[in-house]
Amino acid sequence: MVALNTTAVAWVIFVVILLGWITYYFLNNSSARKELGSEIEMAPNRKQYYDDEQMEGSRLERFQLFGVLLLVTVVIGLPVYWILEPGRQAGAVDRKHEEFVGWGEELFQTTANGGFNCAGCHGGLKGTGGQAPYAVTDPKTGEVRAVSWYAPALNTVFYRFSKEEVRFILNYGRPFSPMSAWGAPGGGPMTEQNIETLLVYLETIQIEPDSCLNPAGLPFSDTADPSVCDGGTLPQPTKDEIQKAVDSYLKANPDASEGEALFNLDLNSGAYSCARCHTQGWSYGNPVATGQGAFGWNLTGGATNTHFPNESDMINFIKAGSSYGKKYGMQSQGSGRMPGFGHLLTDEQIKAVVEYVRGL
Ligand code: HEC
Ligand code: HEC
Repeated sequence: MVALNTTAVAWVIFVVILLGWITYYFLNNSSARKELGSEIEMAPNRKQYYDDEQMEGSRLERFQLFGVLLLVTVVIGLPVYWILEPGRQAGAVDRKHEEFVGWGEELFQTTANGGFNCAGCHGGLKGTGGQAPYAVTDPKTGEVRAVSWYAPALNTVFYRFSKEEVRFILNYGRPFSPMSAWGAPGGGPMTEQNIETLLVYLETIQIEPDSCLNPAGLPFSDTADPSVCDGGTLPQPTKDEIQKAVDSYLKANPDASEGEALFNLDLNSGAYSCARCHTQGWSYGNPVATGQGAFGWNLTGGATNTHFPNESDMINFIKAGSSYGKKYGMQSQGSGRMPGFGHLLTDEQIKAVVEYVRGL
């Protein structure tokens, strides 16, 4: 804001000076023309100059006053500059940020609106989740089938992944799915700068944590009390939606456990589910065998329990997700591609899903 005001003031001063010079030029020019040849009568260097009285009196005082004015300008101007500069810098950062968000939004737009169609697949500019048309080929019969593949909601993506992990996804995509590689490192069309602006945009569409809600259920931005947000955990309003989705799964599958329902949670295009990565075909309505692995490891057959001898270790892993190069379980090393669920599900829900996974 300060930056904008200062720029505006600078422009006004600049225009005033410019107009001043133009006026001076024309006045001077026309007056000079009128007096053309007058210097022949009396050359400027022969004109009578001030006498001593005036030179050392009023004229000198005038110059001294001028000096004092300049001094005062410096003495006041420098501290004012010093006080305003941090604000100006913060303003400049804010403005750059807004600009980045704007550029990111342009890239995020649907193809019809000149973007790269993130909005088209991921459920609009708010990234609430959608579906993408795709063709899958049966590896054995070679039969090609048109399917709709879940494109998970992105308004919670930073609850699952760190910024660097999302950067990796944007650069390299999910090459087996409709999500293509967008960044130059993965062979996509976007520059590093494009990807950065997209990340900044994605940050702005994340939904609020539940503790940011006032009793009326309004987002904290509407109640203007960010302090209630401290320690915010689960994004809202999905907490209640999760329970609703779990209940309807259990209604349709009376024998299922709550853990199974959570594993297959069909909410926000699979943004909360495990099955979309651990069950092949789940994302396009053709699940092959629950938990037998796709993008994520095969969780059946006991191997996973060998990797996590203790339930509590697995719970901690599911909460935090994997990190690139970091150890998890007994002797496993993460890639950063397994999301963390500690900010999406409650502790009880994670315990339920872990118990289900350990029984697979
Ligand atoms: C043609 C449809 C399509 C387009 C266009 C598309 N995506 Fe995706 N995206 C998907 C699908 C489908 C997935 C899920 C892939 C899977 O099952 O692993 C996905 C996954 C993602 C993920 C990982 C989310 C997670 O939780 O696993 C991110 C982040 C993402 N997309 C961001 C973007 C951004 C940003 C753009 C725009 C540059 C974009 N996508 C464009 C279809 C698309
Ligand atoms: C976006 C895809 C994705 C989702 C969603 C996902 N996982 Fe994973 N998961 C992975 C990947 C990839 C790995 C392999 C570890 C790595 O690459 O860091 C993994 C690893 C694991 C492991 C360790 C397996 C082993 O034997 O080492 C467990 C357990 C696991 N996931 C459980 C879950 C559960 C439970 C959920 C749902 C709450 C879930 N995953 C959701 C991708 C995913």
